[in-house]
Amino acid sequence: MTSEMTAPAVSAEPLWRLGTAYFSRKTVLTAAEFGVFTTLSGAPASADELAERLELHPRGARDFFDTLVALGMLTREGELYHNTPLAEHYLNAERASYVGAFLSTADARWDKLVDALKTGDPQNRWGAGAQMFTEQYRTTAAWRNFTAGMDYLNGMIGPVLAEAFDWSTVRSFVDVGGARGNLAAAILRAHPDIEAGVLDLPDVAPVFEEHMAELGLTGKITFHPGNFFENPMPDAQALVMSHVLHDWGVEEREQLVAAAYRALPSGGILLIVDPMIDDDRQGPAGALLTSLNMLMVTPHGSEYTRADCRSWLERAGFTGLTETDLGTHNTLITARKS
Ligand SMILES: C[S@@+](CC[C@H](N)C(=O)[O-])C[C@H]1O[C@@H](n2cnc3c(N)ncnc32)[C@H](O)[C@@H]1O
Repeated sequence: MTSEMTAPAVSAEPLWRLGTAYFSRKTVLTAAEFGVFTTLSGAPASADELAERLELHPRGARDFFDTLVALGMLTREGELYHNTPLAEHYLNAERASYVGAFLSTADARWDKLVDALKTGDPQNRWGAGAQMFTEQYRTTAAWRNFTAGMDYLNGMIGPVLAEAFDWSTVRSFVDVGGARGNLAAAILRAHPDIEAGVLDLPDVAPVFEEHMAELGLTGKITFHPGNFFENPMPDAQALVMSHVLHDWGVEEREQLVAAAYRALPSGGILLIVDPMIDDDRQGPAGALLTSLNMLMVTPHGSEYTRADCRSWLERAGFTGLTETDLGTHNTLITARKS
């Protein structure tokens, strides 16, 4: 048999799946940008009506809408297209939970992956320290977009975190870098007797208040405005740091862990959540990919291994460490101040 006639020894399918994953992402985010989900909210429409309303050429319109059905963003009943609950919640631009704009911001920076890998530099123009956030999110609308994106991510772990840890011995907690309070709300909903707080930059206060009103929790969670590198952490029996340590370099992470240790009472608990990398650094792919994303959005941030996290906690004086998988590549590590 000649070599040309030999069947390939490996299937191309895994690569093909990766290649078309980009098509899926682009189709959904383009639909969000065009306002497909906003248009269909409460107003189901046929392909012709929808194409006309959105001014789309008929050639691709039907495939576009049916692809959104196949991807689980729309349903079609008879001739009429409807939003699925997922698309209605996250991709209708009229909702505060809209993440279309947040998700689209990744496109431009991932186009610059080569530059990031060659230079080690973030692919945005925002400064280091607290400026990284305050220069980037100058308006309440910008904070709203960013914190909606955070809620989309922390919404997948909040209910799991509320169950994965024994909150029965905790009377008070503060979510450090807790954004607009969505994760704190998930814990409070499951454990209504706990005194809950959020520490975040003062500029976040308006979107925090707005979100609390939307969740029917106005006045139930205390907002502590502050800069966690400059101000002592608030008094609480437990401090949570979710998707916070990965924003920073190792030195700053150790600084935050040490500040938490100083603030906690004896017996107090620090809970750290991030998409952590396995200690052998062979996965999970989700955590390694978000680490590359951190390369492009922060000057020194990255994901890190569980072993790295344990070493920072132990160096700060914490003991009794536990580890729990929270799903979506997130790990919870808890540590106690003796
Ligand atoms: C990546 S977000 C994580 C939000 C939230 N903890 C979650 O799990 O979705 C990081 C948060 O830290 C806050 N933050 C950044 N720098 C801060 C600082 N110096 N002091 C207080 N909060 C800060 C940001 O405003 C943002 O809400």
